[in-house]
Amino acid sequence: MLIWVIHGPNLNLLGSREPAIYGATTLADIDRELQAIGQAAGVQVECFQSNHEGALVDRIQSAPTAGVGFIVINPAAYTHTSVAIRDALAAVEVPFIEVHLSNVHRREPFRHRSFLSDLATGVIAGLGASGYRFALQHGIETLKRQA
Ligand code: DQA
Repeated sequence: MLIWVIHGPNLNLLGSREPAIYGATTLADIDRELQAIGQAAGVQVECFQSNHEGALVDRIQSAPTAGVGFIVINPAAYTHTSVAIRDALAAVEVPFIEVHLSNVHRREPFRHRSFLSDLATGVIAGLGASGYRFALQHGIETLKRQA
């Protein structure tokens, strides 16, 4: 059982990036906690971050071959712009949850549109790093139900 957590552009700066919006937790902290949750549940969790759209598309495309059963993805700014990431997620047919640390619906209008939400199993926004935990928990439960 394998779950991928995929982080989009600028999330490598978490901890120092606009902490009033995104919090003080670093990406390494988030990934470490998610991997510990996975380990306790007997599910392998692999985390990946890129600032590059094509690298994110390549990663998503390789999910079926890698045996990934569920994806937790924060596409960051690409949420609002990327047909390519949408198409990759549609192509691989791996269920996914879209996570945002901030409540994008309380922010600028351009953040209200997502190219992914209608393909997602669920969307979590505004719960900070906890959103990743809840999404992962759902992914773990889904995989265990199928096993
Ligand atoms: C974000 C929200 C996006 O609008 C923004 O571009 C990000 C982070 C979030 O986690 O709140 O980079 O996805």
